[in-house]
Amino acid sequence: MKFVVTAGPTREHLDPVRFLSNPSTGKMGFAVARAAARAGHDVTLVAGPVALATPKGVARVDAVSARDVLAAVEAALAAVKDAPDGVALVMTAAVADWRPATCAAKKLKKSAMSGTLKLVRNPDVLKTVRAKTRTWKRKPVLVGFAAETGEPTAEAARKCREKGLAMVVANDVTQPGAGFGVDTNRVTFVLADGTLEPLPLMTKDAVARRIVEKCRTFGGGGGI
Ligand code: PMT
Repeated sequence: MKFVVTAGPTREHLDPVRFLSNPSTGKMGFAVARAAARAGHDVTLVAGPVALATPKGVARVDAVSARDVLAAVEAALAAVKDAPDGVALVMTAAVADWRPATCAAKKLKKSAMSGTLKLVRNPDVLKTVRAKTRTWKRKPVLVGFAAETGEPTAEAARKCREKGLAMVVANDVTQPGAGFGVDTNRVTFVLADGTLEPLPLMTKDAVARRIVEKCRTFGGGGGI
């Protein structure tokens, strides 16, 4: 299969030296890219600003903002559209839902800032891709992640339905050893039909292998 994987945070700048972001380090997404490449798949990794080496055999595209991620994902998918063995998009990245309404070309002076930041919505990468690939003969398998601090599987199921995905990987980031920054994760696969597949605490590499195997079982037609 052809895999497009996103990893890491986005940065939404308000000027060249200030931005809104989150604690994602890219470890989970890089593990998915590595696992897919080791399993013999072609992989494009769209990476936010992270300090990780590119896994062997993986083509990497760097992105900063949510809009960069969307553009890079769309280009990567267009390049593999007719792959006979199917395409999977695994959105591990913690993409910002909002960005500052304006980005100043030069560093803002404290005296010029009002204390109120106006935000505008970012495009949703998964929803945009789903809408644009609806006419594909063989639709890509769309997999999302959800990092939650309460009711992770319910939230993941909602996101799975709303975004029309094959699966959402639910992360309870309040659990020890799970979520941002660590080398392990404890996740539940939440499938489109509502089935829950909880996994024990594992390394991110082991979770990644399970995700890659799952994508293969969806073949070329995940999502709803
Ligand atoms: O990078 P690490 O330090 O290893 O941490 C891994 C992780 C915690 C970041 C990862 O395991 C994880 O859970 N990523 C998803 C973060 C999240 O909470 O996503 P979300 O609930 O905001 O979004 C749900 C899904 O929609 C995600 O797949 C996201 O990539 C996607 N999304 C979000 C916003 C947006 N504008 N477009 C999107 O496609």
